[in-house]
Amino acid sequence: RCAQPGGQAPMNTLTLQRPDDWHVHLRDGAALAAVVKFTAQRFGRAIVMPNLKPAVTTAAAARAYRDRILAALPAGTRFEPLLTLYLTDATAPDEIDRAKAGGIVHGVKLYPAGATTHSDEGVTDISRTYRVLARMQELGMPLLVHGETANADVDVFDRETHFMEAQLRPLIERFPALRVVFEHITTADAVAFVAAARPGVAATITPQHLLHNRNAIFAGGIRPHYYCLPILKRERDRQALLGAATGGNPRFFLGTDSAPHERAAKQSACCCAGMFTAHAALELYAEAFESAGRLDRLEAFAGHFGADFYGLPRHEDKITLIKESWTPPETYDFGDGELVPYRAGEPVAWRLAGGCA
Ligand code: NCD
Ligand code: ZN
Repeated sequence: RCAQPGGQAPMNTLTLQRPDDWHVHLRDGAALAAVVKFTAQRFGRAIVMPNLKPAVTTAAAARAYRDRILAALPAGTRFEPLLTLYLTDATAPDEIDRAKAGGIVHGVKLYPAGATTHSDEGVTDISRTYRVLARMQELGMPLLVHGETANADVDVFDRETHFMEAQLRPLIERFPALRVVFEHITTADAVAFVAAARPGVAATITPQHLLHNRNAIFAGGIRPHYYCLPILKRERDRQALLGAATGGNPRFFLGTDSAPHERAAKQSACCCAGMFTAHAALELYAEAFESAGRLDRLEAFAGHFGADFYGLPRHEDKITLIKESWTPPETYDFGDGELVPYRAGEPVAWRLAGGCA
C-alpha cells in the first residue's frame, strides 16, 4: 500500500489480487510491440485472440506467435500470454490434440465468417466443426465464441440475440460438456441466457459495454472510436451488464476486447470495428464498478472467476489502483502509425499506482 509523501492520511486506494484479461487483441509486429506493454502492466495473463493475418490456425502458429509476444515485452516484465486457435471449416480434430499437448493453447475461437474484423477465414457453417467440437469437449478445451450472426439481413443491433438463439443455444445442448465462453456479451438477453445456462458456460464483459450505451456512437456526430463489434446497445442492456459484472456471479468475468487499429483505419469512410482500452483497462472497470457502488466485487470479477473457469491458479501478487484522475494522450505510437486510445484527452478517474508496489 502506498504511503502519502510526508505521512499524510492514506490515499484512496484499491489493492486487488493481480487480474487477468480473458479477451484481448495484441496484433503482431510493430503494433504488438506498441501495445502489449499496456496489458502486461496490469494483467498477469491474457487470452490472446488469434485473428491475425493470416489467422493463428495451428498449434505451431500459436507457439510462434507466443514467442513473438514474449519477445515484444519490455525487459523484466512478468506476463503470460495464453494462446488461442482460430477455428475454420477445415480445422482437424488432431490439431486440437496438438494444441492441448503443447500446453500453451487455452481456447479455440469461433468467428462466424464475416461477422467482424479479420473473420473472413472463420466458420461458414457450425455443423462443419462438429468433429472438432467433440474433440474439444473430450479434452476440456474451451470454445470462445464471437456470438453474432454474420447474416447481413439481421439488424446489426439484433445480431447477438439472433446468434444466441439460432446457433449458440443448440450448440450448448448438442455438446453438453463443452466449456463455452460467450465473448463480450452486450445485451440483457445474453446476461439472462448465461445466468440460466448449464454449468460450463460463462461470458466476458468489456469496459466499454459497462460504461456506454449506443448513444456514444452518435454523440454530436459519428464517433468512430466508439465503434466496436458487437456494437454498443441500449441503456437497459448496459444496466443489465453492469448488474451481471458486479453481481458476484462467477460466470461473468473480465475480458477487455481491447482491439487497436491505426488511426486512419478508424477515421475512415469505412471505419474498422474495435476500441483500444488496454492503456486504462483495469482503471475503466474500477470506474464502472464504482458507479454501481460495488468496488468490493472488482477483485473477483477481474482476478478470480476467469482463472477458476480456465482451471488456472489465481495470482499471488497484487496490484494497486489510486483514485486520482489522469488524462490519456490524444495518440499512442502504433508501430508505423498512431493509435487513438479510448478516452483520449478526457479524464480517467483511477490510475495505476507506480513505484510503490
Ligand atoms: C475486433 C478486432 O478488431 O480484432 N474488433 C472488435 O470490434 N471487437 C474483432 C472482434 O473481437 O470482434
Ligand atoms: Zn475481440
